[in-house]
Amino acid sequence: MSALLELRDIRKSYAGVRVLDDVSLALAPGEIISLLGPSGCGKSTLLRIAAGLDQDFTGGLAHNPLLDFGGGSGIGVVFQEPRLLPWLNVAQNIGFAEGRAADGAWIEQLLADVGLGGQGDKLPKQLSGGMAQRVAIARGLYQRPQVLLLDEPFSAVDAFTRMKLQDLVVHLADAYGIALLLVTHDLDEAFYLSDRVLILGGSPSRIQRELAVPLPHPRDRRSAELAYLRGEALTELTELTL
Ligand SMILES: Nc1ncnc2c1ncn2[C@@H]1O[C@H](COP(=O)(O)OP(=O)(O)O)[C@@H](O)[C@H]1O
Ligand SMILES: [Mg+2]
Repeated sequence: MSALLELRDIRKSYAGVRVLDDVSLALAPGEIISLLGPSGCGKSTLLRIAAGLDQDFTGGLAHNPLLDFGGGSGIGVVFQEPRLLPWLNVAQNIGFAEGRAADGAWIEQLLADVGLGGQGDKLPKQLSGGMAQRVAIARGLYQRPQVLLLDEPFSAVDAFTRMKLQDLVVHLADAYGIALLLVTHDLDEAFYLSDRVLILGGSPSRIQRELAVPLPHPRDRRSAELAYLRGEALTELTELTL
């Protein structure tokens, strides 16, 4: 298996109602894939399945054995809300999975990486939404994953912070050689960040279209190529939501 993570013919129902039908995808090392689709189409469901957090589905899920090298889980997850534990400080939240034996130097490096150097002593209630999401990103990177799964991670922050966090995540993915599977309903975000955009939709949802984005990073958000691709996706999504 050369992909880091592979989903094959995934079907998923809740209480007998099929949500996902025959969804397949493979994430290659270093690749950035976005799953784009209307609200309620099953994006979070698919991400939880990919993470191994939901085992109630049919089809195949394969994690590359290489993902288990290095002692970590190999897969990090960043959810839509930061999900920080309010009674732990920032550093403790980042290293929480390892409890007291957490690697302080690595936590400090990650804090610097996400622009929060020296702020490990702060409590979650002292953070803005954007800062809390930076902490969640650092926590997702703590186990040195080769795959980071992100579920609409920037949707709760303002547009400017959002752009900064997008740039940050692409930079870190490149610096640490991490593949990303990103769930989003934001067209700009999907095409700005990804190598491939998969459009999910229908009822039940299937992958309706795949659009490749063969542009190097850093990208120009105003480029004509990105505008064209966003237009293609918008046409597809408009049909799906009519
Ligand atoms: N735990 C659950 N029990 C029952 N239905 C669920 C559950 N989680 C999600 N759903 C339903 O499955 C569909 C897909 O949900 P979700 O994966 O959260 O969509 P998205 O992330 O694309 O907005 C929605 O119709 C939602 O109401
Ligand atoms: Mg969701």
